[in-house]
Amino acid sequence: MPVIEVHNLKKYYKVHQKEPGLAGSIKSLFSRKYYDAKAVDGVSFEIDAGELVGFIGPNGAGKTTTLKVLSGLLYPTAGHVSVLGYTPWDRKPAFQKQFSLVMGQKNQLWWDLPAMESFILNKEIYEVPKEQFQKTLDELVELLEVRDFLKVQVRKLSLGQRMKMELIAALIHSPKILFLDEPTIGLDVVMQKKMRDFIKEYNHRSNSTIILTSHYMDDVKELCERVIIIDKGKLLFDGALSEIIKKFANHKVLTVVFSEPVDEEKLKNIGQIKEFDYPKAIISVRRSATSLAAAELLQRFPVADLNIEEPQIEDIIREVFTGKDLA
Ligand SMILES: Nc1ncnc2c1ncn2[C@@H]1O[C@H](COP(=O)(O)OP(=O)(O)OP(=O)(O)O)[C@@H](O)[C@H]1O
Ligand SMILES: [Mg+2]
Repeated sequence: MPVIEVHNLKKYYKVHQKEPGLAGSIKSLFSRKYYDAKAVDGVSFEIDAGELVGFIGPNGAGKTTTLKVLSGLLYPTAGHVSVLGYTPWDRKPAFQKQFSLVMGQKNQLWWDLPAMESFILNKEIYEVPKEQFQKTLDELVELLEVRDFLKVQVRKLSLGQRMKMELIAALIHSPKILFLDEPTIGLDVVMQKKMRDFIKEYNHRSNSTIILTSHYMDDVKELCERVIIIDKGKLLFDGALSEIIKKFANHKVLTVVFSEPVDEEKLKNIGQIKEFDYPKAIISVRRSATSLAAAELLQRFPVADLNIEEPQIEDIIREVFTGKDLA
Protein backbone atom coordinates (compact mmCIF):
# COMPACT_ATOMS: atom_id res chain seq x y z
CA MET A 1 0.00 0.00 0.00
CA PRO A 2 1.51 3.33 -1.02
CA VAL A 3 1.60 6.04 1.66
CA ILE A 4 2.20 8.76 -0.91
CA GLU A 5 0.18 8.96 -4.11
CA VAL A 6 0.70 11.71 -6.64
CA HIS A 7 -1.37 11.68 -9.77
CA ASN A 8 -0.89 14.11 -12.65
CA LEU A 9 0.20 16.89 -10.32
CA LYS A 10 0.45 20.35 -11.81
CA LYS A 11 1.54 23.57 -10.21
CA TYR A 12 1.59 26.66 -12.38
CA TYR A 13 2.70 29.95 -10.85
CA LYS A 14 1.07 33.04 -12.26
CA VAL A 15 3.90 35.34 -13.10
CA HIS A 16 3.36 39.00 -13.78
CA GLN A 17 5.06 40.04 -16.98
CA LYS A 18 6.38 43.56 -17.06
CA GLU A 19 8.18 45.33 -19.84
CA PRO A 20 11.42 46.94 -18.74
CA GLY A 21 11.73 50.56 -17.67
CA LEU A 22 9.32 53.15 -16.36
CA ALA A 23 7.10 53.08 -19.45
CA GLY A 24 6.73 49.35 -18.91
CA SER A 25 5.78 49.89 -15.29
CA ILE A 26 3.12 52.42 -16.20
CA LYS A 27 1.78 50.25 -19.01
CA SER A 28 1.50 47.29 -16.70
CA LEU A 29 -0.63 49.34 -14.31
CA PHE A 30 -3.36 49.37 -16.93
CA SER A 31 -2.99 46.05 -18.66
CA ARG A 32 -1.46 43.39 -16.52
CA LYS A 33 -0.05 40.52 -18.49
CA TYR A 34 0.47 37.17 -16.88
CA TYR A 35 1.97 33.96 -18.00
CA ASP A 36 2.04 30.55 -16.37
CA ALA A 37 5.36 29.30 -15.04
CA LYS A 38 4.84 25.56 -15.20
CA ALA A 39 6.86 24.53 -12.15
CA VAL A 40 5.28 21.06 -12.00
CA ASP A 41 3.59 19.83 -15.12
CA GLY A 42 1.86 16.47 -14.82
CA VAL A 43 3.92 14.42 -12.38
CA SER A 44 2.76 11.03 -11.08
CA PHE A 45 4.38 8.59 -8.66
CA GLU A 46 3.63 6.37 -5.67
CA ILE A 47 5.81 5.70 -2.66
CA ASP A 48 5.47 2.81 -0.24
CA ALA A 49 5.91 2.93 3.52
CA GLY A 50 9.55 2.77 4.58
CA GLU A 51 11.01 3.79 1.23
CA LEU A 52 13.84 6.32 0.99
CA VAL A 53 13.50 7.88 -2.42
CA GLY A 54 15.87 10.35 -4.08
CA PHE A 55 14.04 13.15 -5.85
CA ILE A 56 16.50 14.77 -8.17
CA GLY A 57 16.70 17.22 -11.04
CA PRO A 58 18.54 20.35 -12.08
CA ASN A 59 17.86 23.82 -10.65
CA GLY A 60 14.28 24.90 -11.24
CA ALA A 61 13.09 21.36 -12.05
CA GLY A 62 10.16 21.59 -9.63
CA LYS A 63 11.45 19.58 -6.67
CA THR A 64 10.83 22.10 -3.93
CA THR A 65 7.46 23.00 -5.42
CA THR A 66 6.42 19.33 -5.37
CA LEU A 67 7.54 18.91 -1.76
CA LYS A 68 5.66 22.06 -0.78
CA VAL A 69 2.47 20.71 -2.33
CA LEU A 70 3.01 17.36 -0.62
CA SER A 71 3.40 19.24 2.67
CA GLY A 72 0.26 21.28 2.11
CA LEU A 73 2.12 24.60 1.91
CA LEU A 74 0.93 25.16 -1.65
CA TYR A 75 -2.29 24.42 -3.47
CA PRO A 76 -1.73 22.61 -6.74
CA THR A 77 -3.16 23.85 -10.03
CA ALA A 78 -4.43 20.37 -10.82
CA GLY A 79 -3.97 16.75 -9.89
CA HIS A 80 -4.59 14.36 -7.06
CA VAL A 81 -2.32 13.95 -4.05
CA SER A 82 -2.76 11.69 -1.07
CA VAL A 83 -0.27 11.49 1.79
CA LEU A 84 -1.18 8.90 4.45
CA GLY A 85 -4.71 9.10 3.11
CA TYR A 86 -4.92 12.87 3.63
CA THR A 87 -5.10 15.66 1.09
CA PRO A 88 -2.14 17.76 2.27
CA TRP A 89 -3.59 21.22 1.58
CA ASP A 90 -6.60 20.47 3.78
CA ARG A 91 -4.03 20.88 6.56
CA LYS A 92 -5.80 18.63 9.01
CA PRO A 93 -4.04 18.62 12.39
CA ALA A 94 -3.97 14.81 12.30
CA PHE A 95 -1.97 15.05 9.08
CA GLN A 96 0.34 17.80 10.34
CA LYS A 97 1.36 15.56 13.21
CA GLN A 98 2.59 12.83 10.92
CA PHE A 99 5.03 14.50 8.56
CA SER A 100 7.86 17.00 8.53
CA LEU A 101 9.52 19.15 5.89
CA VAL A 102 13.15 20.11 6.37
CA MET A 103 14.64 22.67 4.03
CA GLY A 104 18.40 22.99 4.05
CA GLN A 105 18.12 26.48 2.62
CA LYS A 106 15.72 27.74 5.22
CA ASN A 107 15.99 28.23 8.91
CA GLN A 108 12.98 27.00 10.86
CA LEU A 109 14.42 27.38 14.34
CA TRP A 110 14.16 30.51 16.46
CA TRP A 111 17.35 32.36 15.61
CA ASP A 112 17.82 34.16 18.94
CA LEU A 113 16.93 31.27 21.20
CA PRO A 114 18.77 28.06 22.01
CA ALA A 115 17.56 25.14 19.87
CA MET A 116 16.17 23.48 22.99
CA GLU A 117 13.50 26.20 23.20
CA SER A 118 12.33 25.44 19.68
CA PHE A 119 12.16 21.74 20.51
CA ILE A 120 9.97 22.49 23.51
CA LEU A 121 7.75 24.70 21.38
CA ASN A 122 7.34 21.92 18.82
CA LYS A 123 6.54 19.50 21.63
CA GLU A 124 3.63 21.76 22.57
CA ILE A 125 2.48 22.35 18.99
CA TYR A 126 2.48 18.67 18.15
CA GLU A 127 1.22 17.62 21.59
CA VAL A 128 4.04 15.17 22.18
CA PRO A 129 3.69 13.47 25.58
CA LYS A 130 6.47 14.44 28.01
CA GLU A 131 8.08 11.02 28.29
CA GLN A 132 8.04 10.42 24.58
CA PHE A 133 9.57 13.85 24.02
CA GLN A 134 12.40 13.12 26.43
CA LYS A 135 13.08 9.73 24.92
CA THR A 136 13.06 10.94 21.31
CA LEU A 137 15.19 13.95 22.20
CA ASP A 138 17.78 11.83 24.01
CA GLU A 139 18.01 9.44 21.09
CA LEU A 140 18.41 12.16 18.49
CA VAL A 141 20.87 14.19 20.55
CA GLU A 142 22.93 11.06 21.05
CA LEU A 143 22.84 10.05 17.40
CA LEU A 144 23.74 13.53 16.17
CA GLU A 145 26.22 14.31 18.97
CA VAL A 146 24.90 17.76 19.83
CA ARG A 147 24.36 17.59 23.58
CA ASP A 148 26.86 20.39 24.24
CA PHE A 149 25.04 22.81 21.96
CA LEU A 150 21.45 22.48 23.10
CA LYS A 151 21.59 25.64 25.16
CA VAL A 152 23.55 27.77 22.72
CA GLN A 153 21.72 30.46 20.74
CA VAL A 154 21.00 29.10 17.27
CA ARG A 155 22.64 32.11 15.62
CA LYS A 156 25.94 31.12 17.25
CA LEU A 157 25.95 27.57 15.91
CA SER A 158 27.92 26.45 12.89
CA LEU A 159 25.95 25.53 9.77
CA GLY A 160 26.43 21.81 10.43
CA GLN A 161 25.38 22.09 14.07
CA ARG A 162 22.36 24.10 13.06
CA MET A 163 21.29 21.56 10.43
CA LYS A 164 21.44 18.85 13.05
CA MET A 165 19.21 20.95 15.29
CA GLU A 166 16.83 21.54 12.37
CA LEU A 167 16.55 17.79 11.98
CA ILE A 168 15.86 17.24 15.66
CA ALA A 169 13.16 19.92 15.59
CA ALA A 170 11.61 18.20 12.58
CA LEU A 171 11.73 14.75 14.15
CA ILE A 172 10.65 15.48 17.71
CA HIS A 173 7.08 14.39 16.97
CA SER A 174 8.26 11.17 15.29
CA PRO A 175 6.77 11.86 11.85
CA LYS A 176 5.98 8.89 9.64
CA ILE A 177 6.84 10.89 6.53
CA LEU A 178 9.86 13.08 6.10
CA PHE A 179 10.53 15.47 3.23
CA LEU A 180 14.18 16.50 3.16
CA ASP A 181 14.91 19.30 0.72
CA GLU A 182 18.68 19.54 0.31
CA PRO A 183 19.52 18.65 3.91
CA THR A 184 23.27 18.52 3.21
CA ILE A 185 23.60 21.76 1.25
CA GLY A 186 26.65 23.80 2.17
CA LEU A 187 28.00 21.25 4.64
CA ASP A 188 31.61 20.09 4.47
CA VAL A 189 32.20 16.54 3.28
CA VAL A 190 32.65 15.13 6.79
CA MET A 191 29.39 16.66 7.99
CA GLN A 192 27.62 15.55 4.81
CA LYS A 193 28.68 12.01 5.56
CA LYS A 194 27.42 12.30 9.14
CA MET A 195 24.07 13.58 7.91
CA ARG A 196 23.81 10.70 5.45
CA ASP A 197 24.63 8.15 8.11
CA PHE A 198 22.00 9.69 10.31
CA ILE A 199 19.31 9.73 7.62
CA LYS A 200 20.01 6.10 6.74
CA GLU A 201 19.98 5.01 10.38
CA TYR A 202 16.83 6.98 11.08
CA ASN A 203 15.06 5.48 8.08
CA HIS A 204 15.91 1.95 9.27
CA ARG A 205 15.19 2.57 12.90
CA SER A 206 11.85 4.30 12.56
CA ASN A 207 10.69 2.74 9.30
CA SER A 208 9.70 6.23 8.22
CA THR A 209 9.17 7.12 4.58
CA ILE A 210 11.61 9.69 3.24
CA ILE A 211 11.78 11.79 0.10
CA LEU A 212 15.16 13.43 -0.26
CA THR A 213 16.32 16.03 -2.74
CA SER A 214 19.98 16.79 -3.19
CA HIS A 215 22.40 18.07 -5.77
CA TYR A 216 25.11 15.88 -4.27
CA MET A 217 25.22 12.55 -6.05
CA ASP A 218 26.95 10.96 -3.06
CA ASP A 219 23.78 11.51 -1.04
CA VAL A 220 21.70 9.81 -3.68
CA LYS A 221 24.13 6.97 -4.32
CA GLU A 222 24.57 6.15 -0.68
CA LEU A 223 20.99 6.53 0.48
CA CYS A 224 18.51 5.88 -2.29
CA GLU A 225 17.85 2.65 -4.09
CA ARG A 226 15.09 4.35 -5.99
CA VAL A 227 15.30 7.72 -7.66
CA ILE A 228 12.76 9.92 -9.33
CA ILE A 229 14.24 12.38 -11.79
CA ILE A 230 12.34 15.45 -12.90
CA ASP A 231 13.21 18.28 -15.22
CA LYS A 232 11.14 21.30 -16.25
CA GLY A 233 8.25 19.96 -14.19
CA LYS A 234 8.12 16.63 -15.99
CA LEU A 235 9.13 13.18 -14.85
CA LEU A 236 12.14 11.80 -16.70
CA PHE A 237 12.78 8.61 -14.79
CA ASP A 238 11.41 6.62 -11.87
CA GLY A 239 13.18 3.44 -10.87
CA ALA A 240 16.23 1.82 -9.36
CA LEU A 241 19.41 3.84 -9.41
CA SER A 242 21.12 0.90 -11.10
CA GLU A 243 18.57 1.07 -13.93
CA ILE A 244 19.69 4.55 -14.89
CA ILE A 245 22.81 3.14 -16.47
CA LYS A 246 20.73 0.72 -18.54
CA LYS A 247 18.26 3.32 -19.62
CA PHE A 248 20.39 6.34 -20.29
CA ALA A 249 23.96 5.21 -20.78
CA ASN A 250 24.30 4.44 -24.43
CA HIS A 251 28.05 4.56 -24.17
CA LYS A 252 30.88 2.85 -22.34
CA VAL A 253 34.19 4.16 -21.16
CA LEU A 254 37.49 2.71 -22.36
CA THR A 255 40.54 3.46 -20.26
CA VAL A 256 43.74 2.70 -22.13
CA VAL A 257 47.36 2.79 -21.07
CA PHE A 258 49.83 2.91 -23.98
CA SER A 259 53.34 1.49 -23.99
CA GLU A 260 54.56 4.02 -26.55
CA PRO A 261 53.43 7.52 -27.58
CA VAL A 262 50.49 7.57 -30.00
CA ASP A 263 48.99 10.08 -32.39
CA GLU A 264 45.95 11.72 -30.79
CA GLU A 265 44.40 12.39 -34.21
CA LYS A 266 44.37 8.68 -35.02
CA LEU A 267 42.93 7.89 -31.63
CA LYS A 268 39.91 10.06 -32.46
CA ASN A 269 38.76 7.40 -34.92
CA ILE A 270 38.09 5.05 -32.02
CA GLY A 271 35.65 7.27 -30.18
CA GLN A 272 35.29 10.50 -28.27
CA ILE A 273 38.43 11.30 -26.32
CA LYS A 274 37.47 12.42 -22.83
CA GLU A 275 40.97 12.69 -21.48
CA PHE A 276 44.40 12.20 -23.00
CA ASP A 277 47.49 12.47 -20.88
CA TYR A 278 50.15 10.09 -22.11
CA PRO A 279 50.39 7.23 -21.31
CA LYS A 280 46.71 7.23 -20.34
CA ALA A 281 43.61 7.97 -22.41
CA ILE A 282 39.90 7.83 -21.58
CA ILE A 283 37.66 7.28 -24.57
CA SER A 284 33.89 7.18 -24.72
CA VAL A 285 32.35 4.87 -27.32
CA ARG A 286 28.85 3.84 -28.29
CA ARG A 287 27.73 0.82 -26.31
CA SER A 288 26.94 -1.15 -29.46
CA ALA A 289 30.40 -0.43 -30.85
CA THR A 290 32.35 -1.30 -27.72
CA SER A 291 33.89 -4.60 -28.84
CA LEU A 292 34.81 -3.23 -32.23
CA ALA A 293 36.48 -0.19 -30.67
CA ALA A 294 38.39 -2.37 -28.21
CA ALA A 295 39.57 -4.70 -30.98
CA GLU A 296 40.75 -1.79 -33.11
CA LEU A 297 42.60 -0.26 -30.20
CA LEU A 298 44.45 -3.49 -29.55
CA GLN A 299 45.29 -4.02 -33.22
CA ARG A 300 46.39 -0.54 -34.17
CA PHE A 301 47.91 0.94 -31.04
CA PRO A 302 50.64 -0.10 -28.61
CA VAL A 303 48.31 -0.95 -25.73
CA ALA A 304 49.76 -1.88 -22.34
CA ASP A 305 46.46 -2.04 -20.51
CA LEU A 306 42.77 -1.71 -21.39
CA ASN A 307 39.69 -1.43 -19.21
CA ILE A 308 36.07 -1.23 -20.30
CA GLU A 309 33.71 0.34 -17.78
CA GLU A 310 30.21 1.67 -17.38
CA PRO A 311 30.09 5.44 -17.13
CA GLN A 312 29.74 6.98 -13.67
CA ILE A 313 26.21 7.62 -12.43
CA GLU A 314 27.22 11.26 -11.90
CA ASP A 315 28.18 11.62 -15.53
CA ILE A 316 25.02 9.99 -16.81
CA ILE A 317 22.77 12.10 -14.66
CA ARG A 318 24.58 15.25 -15.66
CA GLU A 319 24.09 14.30 -19.31
CA VAL A 320 20.42 13.49 -18.69
CA PHE A 321 20.00 16.94 -17.13
CA THR A 322 21.72 18.76 -19.92
CA GLY A 323 19.98 16.65 -22.53
CA LYS A 324 23.17 15.95 -24.42
CA ASP A 325 23.73 13.00 -26.67
CA LEU A 326 26.12 10.68 -24.97
CA ALA A 327 28.57 8.90 -27.23
N1 LIG B 1 6.66 31.69 -6.09
C1 LIG B 1 7.00 31.48 -7.35
N2 LIG B 1 6.54 32.25 -8.35
C2 LIG B 1 6.87 32.03 -9.64
N3 LIG B 1 7.67 31.05 -10.04
C3 LIG B 1 8.18 30.23 -9.10
C4 LIG B 1 7.88 30.39 -7.71
N4 LIG B 1 8.53 29.45 -7.02
C5 LIG B 1 9.20 28.72 -7.92
N5 LIG B 1 9.00 29.18 -9.17
C6 LIG B 1 9.53 28.62 -10.43
O1 LIG B 1 9.12 27.27 -10.52
C7 LIG B 1 10.17 26.46 -11.04
C8 LIG B 1 10.47 25.32 -10.09
O2 LIG B 1 11.04 25.81 -8.90
P1 LIG B 1 11.47 24.87 -7.70
O3 LIG B 1 11.92 25.74 -6.58
O4 LIG B 1 10.40 23.90 -7.43
O5 LIG B 1 12.73 24.09 -8.34
P2 LIG B 1 13.75 23.09 -7.66
O6 LIG B 1 13.71 21.84 -8.45
O7 LIG B 1 13.52 22.99 -6.21
O8 LIG B 1 15.16 23.82 -7.96
P3 LIG B 1 16.49 23.92 -7.05
O9 LIG B 1 17.28 22.66 -7.32
O10 LIG B 1 17.19 25.12 -7.63
O11 LIG B 1 16.10 24.09 -5.64
C9 LIG B 1 11.33 27.40 -11.30
O12 LIG B 1 11.35 27.75 -12.64
C10 LIG B 1 11.05 28.59 -10.42
O13 LIG B 1 11.58 29.75 -10.98
MG1 LIG C 1 14.64 23.46 -4.54
